[in-house]
Amino acid sequence: MDLETELLTSSDDDIKKAAEIIAAGGIVGMPTETVYGLAADAENADAVRKIFMAKGRPQDNPLIVHLADISDISDYAYDIPDIAYKIAERFCPGPLTMVLPKRDRIPDITSAGLDTVGIRIPSHKAARKLIKFSGKAIAAPSANLSGSPSPTTAIHVMNDMNGKIPAVIDGGSCPVGVESTVISFESGKIRILRPGFVLAEELSEFGEVIIDRHITEAADNGEKVLSPGMKYKHYSPKANVTIIDGDSEHYIEFVNSHGGEGVFAMPFDSDEPFCRIPAVPYGDTCEEQAAKLFDVLRKFDEIGAKQVYARCPAVSGVGLAVYNRLLRAAGFEIIKIT
Ligand code: TXA
Ligand code: MG
Repeated sequence: MDLETELLTSSDDDIKKAAEIIAAGGIVGMPTETVYGLAADAENADAVRKIFMAKGRPQDNPLIVHLADISDISDYAYDIPDIAYKIAERFCPGPLTMVLPKRDRIPDITSAGLDTVGIRIPSHKAARKLIKFSGKAIAAPSANLSGSPSPTTAIHVMNDMNGKIPAVIDGGSCPVGVESTVISFESGKIRILRPGFVLAEELSEFGEVIIDRHITEAADNGEKVLSPGMKYKHYSPKANVTIIDGDSEHYIEFVNSHGGEGVFAMPFDSDEPFCRIPAVPYGDTCEEQAAKLFDVLRKFDEIGAKQVYARCPAVSGVGLAVYNRLLRAAGFEIIKIT
């Protein structure tokens, strides 16, 4: 398929155009508060198939279904625990996905054959309008080519999807920058399958929180994982990324003695003035790092980096989400320096 991909604004008229494409079984790039998504009518199997084609996504990786309101959840899921509603009241609309038993109206292709569905109520205005104007539940994975860093601007989506989809809505840079926190429920307990902006500490007010071990550990070959997306190498720029786990002084010493052609540092902002090799910094606080991570990983592709040494983020708060994505970008390659 070779289309002219139209860059739409976030005006109501333009979002209505996008909503018409969705209602007619097409797919469009949609901004959300986390990352851009590739949106289609979640109940239209042919439309959802187009998402998998455009991304080159493995068929066994389920899509998140985006709804407008908490009161819509029971139309698409059942056996919803009370605690799910309590959590939804607190965090939705927002960067949270809840895995729940799915109703039959969600086709198998959307849930990748699972009997559950990930439900999310985004807070981004343009996403909310697209859902309302189209009158559809919207299936949307991140709008990157499968395996590439998630897109956090409309230009990132254009770079990956130009010619493959009819339109992208430009909603500016995504404020969160990493994908939603994905949780499931196990007899009163909350399992975090993917860390994001909604934190374990916050969720623990509602019940015991289990942090799935695949958040920080690679799955063994063929091992069953509860969230299929966790088993893929992900978020990878073309360069080889290595995480350097150490304090500022050790990190700077390491990069300054490992320079070479195509070698770049990915330091914290405060380390950058001391780096004597080319560097693209990614912020100082975890929140800044989350917002910048994917843009910086994409930059390394643009500048033709061959080797990137990224300073390990703090592995707490939103830092856990940053670390989880960076680990996959690095194929779990970490050097600890003490
Ligand atoms: O912030 C987000 O969640 C973004 C925006 C566009 O909403 N979407 C997103 O979708 O990140 P995607 O497809 O790139 O990642 C969805 C993750 C995958 O790891 C997938 O395996 C997991 O959620 N997931 C989806 N449905 C699931 C289910 N029923 N059970 C377990 N994991 C599920
Ligand atoms: Mg994704």
